Amino acid sequence: MSREINRMAVVGAGVMGTGIAQIAAQAGIQVLLFDNREGAARTARDNLKQTLDTLVSKGKVQGGDALATLDRVQVATSLTELKDVDLVVEAIIERLDAKQALLAQLEAVVADDCILATNTSSLSVTSIARECRRPERVAGFHFFNPVPLMKVVEVIDGLASDPRVGDRLQALAARMGHRGIRASDTPGFIINHAGRAYSTEALQMLKEGIAEPAEIDRILREGLGFRMGPFELFDLTALDVSHPVIESIYNQYYQEPRYRPAALTRQMLEAGFVGRKAGRGFYRYANGQKVDAPQPQAVPVVEVLPPVWLGTENEVDHANLTTLLEQLGAKVEQGATPSSEALCLLAPYGLDATSAAVFFATDPARTVCIDPLLDIARYRTLMPTPATRVDMRNAAHALLARDGVGVSVISDSVGFVAQRMLAMIVNLAGDIVQQRIASVEDLDEGVRRGLGYPQGPLAWGDSVGARRLLTILERMTQLTADPRYRPGPWLRRRATLGLSLRHVEPTLT
Ligand SMILES: NC(=O)c1ccc[n+]([C@@H]2O[C@H](COP(=O)([O-])OP(=O)(O)OC[C@H]3O[C@@H](n4cnc5c(N)ncnc54)[C@H](O)[C@@H]3O)[C@@H](O)[C@H]2O)c1
Repeated sequence: MSREINRMAVVGAGVMGTGIAQIAAQAGIQVLLFDNREGAARTARDNLKQTLDTLVSKGKVQGGDALATLDRVQVATSLTELKDVDLVVEAIIERLDAKQALLAQLEAVVADDCILATNTSSLSVTSIARECRRPERVAGFHFFNPVPLMKVVEVIDGLASDPRVGDRLQALAARMGHRGIRASDTPGFIINHAGRAYSTEALQMLKEGIAEPAEIDRILREGLGFRMGPFELFDLTALDVSHPVIESIYNQYYQEPRYRPAALTRQMLEAGFVGRKAGRGFYRYANGQKVDAPQPQAVPVVEVLPPVWLGTENEVDHANLTTLLEQLGAKVEQGATPSSEALCLLAPYGLDATSAAVFFATDPARTVCIDPLLDIARYRTLMPTPATRVDMRNAAHALLARDGVGVSVISDSVGFVAQRMLAMIVNLAGDIVQQRIASVEDLDEGVRRGLGYPQGPLAWGDSVGARRLLTILERMTQLTADPRYRPGPWLRRRATLGLSLRHVEPTLT
């Protein structure tokens, strides 16, 4: 069970199988490629040749290496040719019965110590292995598309898997230049599970009418540094792929509110508005490019600005915002209470503007909130109460946009956009680690590589402060009465004890 893998087979020569064959062959492994569709494996090998030729022409691969790589990939015309391999990775159609049947056929051909790995993205590895004579040799080996570029693979232990099988797959992943992250067999494994926060919280915001998709995307991209906004991502992935995943993970976790789907994406799916490939999703597209995308909100012209009274929850926020407001030319009031003409600019955590006005005892008609979690030198989110006067909202917008930094004005929302999104991401990540689905390191590294987030969620949570995130979640839970926002034990305990979110308790002996 511990010998190195030198010969492997890939069954299913589609998008994923071809990519897996490529990185394995590039790592010096002999690969047999099989597909039950006539000519498919041959075509996949031809496609691989083209890919390698392109890499050579771009100077990314030496000509000799490309030839050697291609030479290592051979087409098998029947499963019996796979009898001598050390590992089979199946990347066939995502259907439980088909995968179970394939493993049964393979067990009749391969040696007893040959590993059978599945690239399933949504089925249970335990269920796939259920009918096997030796279920202990089955594990998940879940790559991401495009395989050569997404340098992460989930190594999944089913309930019956021998841990040494996963160890060998992790060693193989490292040889192929991929980071193998270890997951227990749970819905969505690590990366698709952790990704639930970004997608479903964005939909939740839309459901609450906080802002248009483009505005939410802009805040998360420019304010928090995500490569794509959640709605841009939905359009790229396409709702015919992502909506069923949202529903499936929600149901597999027995309607856990943290994973709650939205009616909107089902409707869009039924209308055929699945995203970029359909020309219409949350945005409209022509030739794969966005068209008529909403422009940033126009900055109102305000001749005379009122003085500003600032309400913050801590001294650092107070100092930062005072400096900014003075740089922008505002007259900042110093009194304990605002004057009768002041714009009341509040910087709360986890509150909506309505409850912030109550918390700071300001006039709701003159209250506008600014998100203090965002780096205000980079992007600013403003949020009036439902009672805020238009002249006060415009004054806040005009003032905060004076230096050209982007500003989004949203409707009243608990935790603005960025606070609630980041709190959800970190809380969910803590839950994944608490449930022992993954280690802290694998979770953070997997999300960074697999989802492209600027930081691993737990490291990100530490940089923002666990205590602050706990406050956001507690207040959101209280204000919404929605258990979706309840702080999980991982985050709550570490925040309460002043520990890092990456802190792991010593194991019990
Ligand atoms: N496409 C992705 O982004 C992605 C990402 C991660 C995991 N996956 C998983 O990888 C697997 C393959 O996905 P894909 O996108 O490469 O699919 P694909 O449709 O591109 O390729 C599947 C291939 O498997 C072949 N096939 C089907 N049944 C077979 C069988 N019984 N025996 C041999 N060959 C068979 C088909 O002919 C086809 O060539 C699925 O389990 C999928 O969930 C896909």
